[in-house]
Amino acid sequence: EESKLDLISRCIRPFPDFPSEGILFRDICPIMKSPAALTAVIDLFEQHVLECHPVVDLIVGIDARGFLFGPLLAQRLGVGFVMVRKKGKLPGPTVSVAYTLEYGTAEAEVQEDSVSPGQKVILIDDLLATGGTLFAACELMKKLLAEVLGCLVVVSLKDLSGADKLKPHTVFPLIQY
Ligand code: PRP
Repeated sequence: EESKLDLISRCIRPFPDFPSEGILFRDICPIMKSPAALTAVIDLFEQHVLECHPVVDLIVGIDARGFLFGPLLAQRLGVGFVMVRKKGKLPGPTVSVAYTLEYGTAEAEVQEDSVSPGQKVILIDDLLATGGTLFAACELMKKLLAEVLGCLVVVSLKDLSGADKLKPHTVFPLIQY
């Protein structure tokens, strides 16, 4: 029987020179089209969290593809889900932090009351490249005095050393390129 990781990796397609020249884009859309692959992703994340972080208060997902996996995992774990969004999308009092991307710059934002001081959170996104995005999300959690237990990603691009940028926070990737 095909392993869950094999199933998932068969659902990640490389697109050279997207969205700009020199970028090899790893497209996870086929995972979303395959109920079995999507279930495998959530199974493996759930297993990791239960083993390594038995006490979690919230799953925090990153705009936009972190929103595809985060709520499913949160529901599995029986905890809430919080959105870190691109600036200007969330109403009410927010905190924000600027960051640089593999291709461009952006600002991440979260509602001030989304996480309470001392709450234990796990961050989730589809992909780790330079680590700028997840680093910014960690900074946001720090501003809200949350405790970041770790980060989960479907795909990690080793050469870009995103995991180093996130230290001492840990990253759990399902697939590495
Ligand atoms: C991609 C990806 C991660 C981020 C990773 O999102 O989904 O969030 O880049 O790159 P980094 O590790 O170098 O920060 P993108 O910023 O393209 O936004 P999108 O999800 O809205 O398309």
